[in-house]
Amino acid sequence: MNPKKIRQDFPVFQNHPDLAYLDSAATSQKPEKVIKAVEKFYRRQNSNIGRGLYDLANSATQMYSKSREKVAEFIGAEPEEVVFVRNTTEAENLLAYSYSFEGDIVLSKMAHHSEQLPWRRKSQKEDKDLRYIQTENGKLSLESARKVINKDTGLVAISHVSNVFGAENPVEEIIKLAHENNAVVMLDAAQSAPHMRLDVNNLNADFMCFSGHKILGPSGTGILYGRKELMEDMEPYQIGGGMVNSVEKDKVEYSSTPDKFEAGTPNVAGAAGMKAAIEYLESIGMSQIKKHTEKISEKIWDTVDQQEGFENISPEGANIVSFRSEYAHPHDIAEVLNQYGVAVRAGQHCAQPQVREIDVNGTVRASTHVYNTEEDVEKLEKGLEEVRNLFG
Ligand code: ALA
Repeated sequence: MNPKKIRQDFPVFQNHPDLAYLDSAATSQKPEKVIKAVEKFYRRQNSNIGRGLYDLANSATQMYSKSREKVAEFIGAEPEEVVFVRNTTEAENLLAYSYSFEGDIVLSKMAHHSEQLPWRRKSQKEDKDLRYIQTENGKLSLESARKVINKDTGLVAISHVSNVFGAENPVEEIIKLAHENNAVVMLDAAQSAPHMRLDVNNLNADFMCFSGHKILGPSGTGILYGRKELMEDMEPYQIGGGMVNSVEKDKVEYSSTPDKFEAGTPNVAGAAGMKAAIEYLESIGMSQIKKHTEKISEKIWDTVDQQEGFENISPEGANIVSFRSEYAHPHDIAEVLNQYGVAVRAGQHCAQPQVREIDVNGTVRASTHVYNTEEDVEKLEKGLEEVRNLFG
């Protein structure tokens, strides 16, 4: 693949030709095809779905179903197992609200707040014990997982790739361990879905979620995958229009999954954009994307490693690179990088319990996608040299 050519598919770089965008873990840029798909919906198809009987509404409803089918195919699931949500945070909240189970909860120390707070609240409300898998060299520790996952565990919520460290966690082993103890697993794939092929049959997670806006799709899109038999038994998260079979004075019959989890008018244009995003990713190939982002991330890691006074927090080989410096606060580093046209995230990355343990000031985080080039890393290097000149 040719990242310089790919870069031309993204209008943001026509408007900001010198931008070294290294904040794709926060949100990815959008290719022309995604923007056009959203525009096309509003220009040619706009109407509500699942309600109107006229042609325009039928066409919108069909497009929405096709988008769900595309997502399902992308992850090896059935369409009924894919619920459209606003983002990963909503998927975690939906599940914590709707999935009822016996037993305790196991989370990870590295969890993003969205993967942590809904379950912490559930543990308090339902008086469930909560235990944490510790982190070892930027990854979930298997030794710690073996200590905290046991016959009392009902649910294990883990990230595939941490948004702070960027390394792939040993999720296969942890999922196996959870299943041996009859616990179900929620896999947060927010940071893995943008870079790698996910197949729910191979991963064997019971639930999985990710955001559309991190896989080149529109903001306000995401999915919750769940095994059909588990989803069928779950309570709807929100109730209202478009998710019932019948409503009588004293009786309500909800639709089956996935409709019962999508109350109200959904983000129909967003679904059009998400389908276009997946088609765009597939036209490049997920294995090519993984190879490319790993290569650029490795260059970033090496650049930081070679700079005196800077230290990588992410392990070598990680696909997101977090680092810090003895010279300056992460926010100051991000400010200097901004002057060099480099966009990074700095701070605690919505993972305060974990990041505070590393450095109370947080880290600087550089993250990549298909459009990043070696020139972006050269700009980062110049910016880091300037940080040393100014603060060193
Ligand atoms: N979860 C996103 C991040 O890590 C917003 O930056």
